[in-house]
Amino acid sequence: MAKPTSQNITWHDANVSAAQRSAATGQKGAVMWFTGLSGSGKSTVSRRVEQMLLERGAFVYGLDGDNVRFGLNSDLGFAPEDRKENIRRISKVAKLFADASVLVCTAFISPYRAGRDACREKLPAGTFIEVFVDTPVEVCEARDPKGLYKKARAGEIKGFTGIDAPYEAPLNPEIRIKTAEKDVDACAQQVVDYLVANGFVS
Ligand code: ADX
Repeated sequence: MAKPTSQNITWHDANVSAAQRSAATGQKGAVMWFTGLSGSGKSTVSRRVEQMLLERGAFVYGLDGDNVRFGLNSDLGFAPEDRKENIRRISKVAKLFADASVLVCTAFISPYRAGRDACREKLPAGTFIEVFVDTPVEVCEARDPKGLYKKARAGEIKGFTGIDAPYEAPLNPEIRIKTAEKDVDACAQQVVDYLVANGFVS
């Protein structure tokens, strides 16, 4: 854990453990960490996963790129340091939710491998599930749902991921989704199937 700036503070362990919370809710928490380019389909698929899980009686919560930037991370932009801080804070929040036995879906570009790996390391083994939304940049650019690729090509946005800012693809994601080849339901089902196969939902 990073050294806090504050002094004269003391860590207090909770009286209730994550295992006790899981026993009370009947669910083990986990983080489905969706990563991929803007326009790859992260939000669309992760929101569908949330619905499907809820229909199965699971207790779920979604944290989504643009929305978090309206609130918790409204002070951050898209410079590399800001993106790192964005993912660091989101990792902390996701861990709190998972610790509370929630199944969390996060949908952020999260372009740096180190940031995603740091989140994995914070969570109990097997509970960080990296979902690589593996959509080629050409497909994302053709979709351009927010018109941002067009702006990036025109030079109106600098440092746009996939155009003039890096995206480090996962090396060993638990799940790889191809939204250019399968529809939303089939992609979401892949994630649900993984959770069933690994005992997170029945
Ligand atoms: S991250 O890189 O820090 O993980 P995040 O997922 O929060 O990014 O936000 C990405 C969203 O912000 C994109 O889907 C897009 O709508 C918007 N956006 C605005 N500027 C940029 C940029 N320069 N690069 C990528 N996305 C951007």
